[in-house]
Amino acid sequence: MEKTQHKPHCLILPYPIQGHINPMLQFSKRLAAKGITITFAVLENLHTSADDEFSSSISVETISDGYTSATRAAALLPEYLPTFQKAGSESLTQLIEKLRERGRAVDCVVYDTFLPWGLAVARNMGLFGAAFFTQSCSVNIIYYSLFKGLLNVEVVEREVLLPGLPELGASDLPSFVLDRETHPGSFELLVDQFEGVEDSNFAFVNSVYELEEEATDWLKKFMSVKTIGPTIPSMYLDKRLQHDKNYGLSLFKPDDTCMKWLQQQSPKSVIYISFGSMAKLEEQQMVELATTLKLTGKPFLWVVRSSEASKLPQGFMDEASDQGLIVSWCPQLEVLAHDTIGCFITHCGWNSTLEALSLGVPMVGVPWWSDQATNAKFVMDVWKMGVRACPDKGDVVGHEELVRCVKCVMEGERSEEMRLNAMKWKELTKGAVDEGGSSDKNIQEFVSTLMGGET
Ligand code: UDX
Repeated sequence: MEKTQHKPHCLILPYPIQGHINPMLQFSKRLAAKGITITFAVLENLHTSADDEFSSSISVETISDGYTSATRAAALLPEYLPTFQKAGSESLTQLIEKLRERGRAVDCVVYDTFLPWGLAVARNMGLFGAAFFTQSCSVNIIYYSLFKGLLNVEVVEREVLLPGLPELGASDLPSFVLDRETHPGSFELLVDQFEGVEDSNFAFVNSVYELEEEATDWLKKFMSVKTIGPTIPSMYLDKRLQHDKNYGLSLFKPDDTCMKWLQQQSPKSVIYISFGSMAKLEEQQMVELATTLKLTGKPFLWVVRSSEASKLPQGFMDEASDQGLIVSWCPQLEVLAHDTIGCFITHCGWNSTLEALSLGVPMVGVPWWSDQATNAKFVMDVWKMGVRACPDKGDVVGHEELVRCVKCVMEGERSEEMRLNAMKWKELTKGAVDEGGSSDKNIQEFVSTLMGGET
């Protein structure tokens, strides 16, 4: 790449869901802190809070996916993705041209691998293109093996052996691998992520090298993989950096009244329950969770998004109002960092998993879809920071199993091992983003390349 005279400028293109916006925005902040100008492209105005200071270094611009917020909600992926590709490529090209005319020429497009056309736009405009994977290296190996025809799912019966990974059972695979009917288009979306990646200048992964050494090393043979995680705001990794407390752009409005409530609880006593931004639980699953909370008698903080609230058992909160709190969205990082949290019942979305590992909170994994089963397998068997709850009624995990799992991580024999591992992963993830750590070095290498070659 030519030596740039101006301050290098990256355009960041996330897939427009919370679990992708968060890590890509946080990565943007790390780049901005190293002197890169950032334009962050989203679909519409998102919530920001007063203490989100990123706005001085990062401009947020909008592009189009060809939908309005009303029509988008009803669109299915097989129709949505090609429409987004067409409208997105056009509006992204126009945005890059507009920025160039304003004297803010873009040098590199960092595109979410869910939007592989971002690389084509970059190349057409003569720009650098860098891929960004929001899921783990281990999960990427599974999809890459499918992309390359190295794994034939038609013959997956019991265990799957893939390079860089422990032996996986069929139930440890990402859900879309064996079930392509329930969420049409998702399997193709995940496998198509690798289109062109081998030619992209960098392939960033929101993970930590030390968490997945073998998997990362294997992927590096095929693409320019750089782990850059954990992409969580710096304050949680270094208490002196108070200014970087939230991710900063939210599709949901957080209710922070729960922080006051948490203050009144005892250390390590609270069960925190959240299934992220997308899961749609079966009504019976909500009943089993509510029963579990009642049976444990422990204080709880439960995030139930407003679209899920009608599934709560009738009268549950009237009965349990002395025991716990339900909110529709919370500042999850602040919650996980609070010393009253003793256990996280989670769907094992990759962000939630990395956040809990980085903040030392043991997990009970109740995966819902996508990569979550694989993440839960690693939480239990590789990082030993929690247990995976097993469904006993179809896809629903019953309250007896959930109570067993909660006891196991909060007071059982294994809780001591998890406590020690929590300290280990907390140190290790912090070390990765500290100056000279594995992730920091990878980010610095990218920045130096953009600035003109010297690393
Ligand atoms: C999606 C997929 O479902 C997941 O499998 C994939 O790994 C990433 O993309 P999502 O289901 O939303 O993500 O889960 P997760 O990855 O955990 O991301 C949720 C984010 O929202 C986290 O960063 C979490 O901190 C935040 N969050 C969640 C809040 O800020 N408040 C809440 O109340 C709940």
